[in-house]
Amino acid sequence: MTDALPWKTAWVTGASTGIGRDIVLQLKAAGVNVAASARSAEKLSALGPDIVTIPLDVTDAAACHAAVERIESELGPLDLVVFGAGTYAPVAVDSIDPKLFAHTMNTNYMGVVNCLAAVAPRMLARGSGHISWIASVAGFLGLPKAAAYGPTKAALINLAESLEPEMKLKGVRISVINPGFVATPLTAQNDFEMPFLMQPDEAARRTIAGLVAGRFEIAYPRRFVAILRTLRALPYPLFFRLITRFVLKDK
Ligand SMILES: NC(=O)c1ccc[n+]([C@@H]2O[C@H](COP(=O)([O-])OP(=O)(O)OC[C@H]3O[C@@H](n4cnc5c(N)ncnc54)[C@H](OP(=O)(O)O)[C@@H]3O)[C@@H](O)[C@H]2O)c1
Repeated sequence: MTDALPWKTAWVTGASTGIGRDIVLQLKAAGVNVAASARSAEKLSALGPDIVTIPLDVTDAAACHAAVERIESELGPLDLVVFGAGTYAPVAVDSIDPKLFAHTMNTNYMGVVNCLAAVAPRMLARGSGHISWIASVAGFLGLPKAAAYGPTKAALINLAESLEPEMKLKGVRISVINPGFVATPLTAQNDFEMPFLMQPDEAARRTIAGLVAGRFEIAYPRRFVAILRTLRALPYPLFFRLITRFVLKDK
């Protein structure tokens, strides 16, 4: 990535591995001053010396405020934030564990809300900035095993839709990133063949390109997104028949 990007400073959460890590490295390579957060200070330190690393658990609302305070005092006003911290664990229908559901919602959804609450007032006061978060194509529709994860991502898409119009009137841009399957530690636990699997550096490239283009929704890969949207639009009897046949592989 060599073209100048429209941001001077950025903050990325979920930056120690996977998609977030590659977003950080590509933003930095393009000359953006980047702050990177995740819980693991050790993994963050592997990002290199020119990146401001702020270890943070996004479920801690006060720590999110302190992180933004520190980043803006070190780097100056944030132009772009990408909230990518997230967790996933498959759910078997015969072991519904409320603790797992609460943990997933607290990390994936409230983690974004906590970071949003810390950064939005500052951007609104300045009348500028871009706030983006990583949801998922799993937020489009209910998928087997994703009973704890999917609802958190559907909530994140709804959150972005809900905030975008008023934020835009006040000069702050909101966008939502919906990747398909990406080869990261999060998906390494999947015991099935993941269709249209993408590498994290390619996911990061598409994310940054979508952010630069100013799209509200950045969804990829295109063919997988189109298949899932088509499935979503089907009447439920057909929708469930196709899911049972092609996802559960049960004729
Ligand atoms: N991979 C996919 O196929 C895919 C598809 C669609 C959407 N996504 C979404 O993309 C985002 C990035 O996922 P990934 O695939 O790149 O997975 P990943 O490599 O496992 O990255 C997850 C990141 O979130 C951080 N994290 C987890 N819990 C946290 C917490 N409580 N506070 C702060 N940071 C936390 C992790 O670092 P620490 O453990 O050090 O905290 C790590 O940096 C997630 O929101 C995921 O749901 C992934």
